[in-house]
Amino acid sequence: MSAAIQPGRFISFEGTEGVGKSTAIDNLCVRLDAEGVAYIKTREPGGSPFAEQLRSLLLDVKTQINDDTELLLMFAARSDHLQQVILPALAAGQWVICDRFVDSSVAYQGYGRGHGDAQMLAKIDSLIDRFVPTLPDLTLWLDLPVQEGMQRAQKRSAADRFEQQQLDFFDRVYQGFQAQQQAHPQRIQRVDAAGDAEQVASRIWALVQELRA
Ligand code: TYD
Repeated sequence: MSAAIQPGRFISFEGTEGVGKSTAIDNLCVRLDAEGVAYIKTREPGGSPFAEQLRSLLLDVKTQINDDTELLLMFAARSDHLQQVILPALAAGQWVICDRFVDSSVAYQGYGRGHGDAQMLAKIDSLIDRFVPTLPDLTLWLDLPVQEGMQRAQKRSAADRFEQQQLDFFDRVYQGFQAQQQAHPQRIQRVDAAGDAEQVASRIWALVQELRA
């Protein structure tokens, strides 16, 4: 008789612009490869064919939508991504490494757009409640001063619809991540994202090891 498949672990990465998520994710994947852990690497908004179409619309600087529409599109993309990609991978025993997840909606739509307004936060909570059956086992919040991250991000390609926002928007997004971490201190671990990439990778690996125990 074959042993039951052990569900995979779900890890999300979060943070404001330019904190080094992509490098941190790549470094984690190198370590998972070395340990022979089966995983998929994915991202939000996006990660499934339909959600990637929504991503293009959401990031396009020509897109003009109100805050509720933006919020609903983020969750429409997330719902498709969950059903098509994340849940099947976890059920098959694969780990899921996801660049952003629900905490970005709280931080960007709830605090960035909504200024932490209680009604906006309640809408997001209810969307999570109804449409997100599985939260990450571990969320790594890469913490770097907003301005430092923005300077790094500006060196990259042309700004998308979110990157075009001003400093005060990203200050609020930062507060959103901070509030989420305080509300969910078990799931969300703060990672000091300053220092070189190898140091950050080691900090992350230590936290991921605890999940494997
Ligand atoms: P990402 O590709 O991670 O951008 P970056 O490389 O700049 O970190 O994410 C795209 C943008 O989408 C990012 O600016 C944050 C935003 N976003 C939201 O506003 N809400 C969400 O729920 C998610 C998942 C992302």
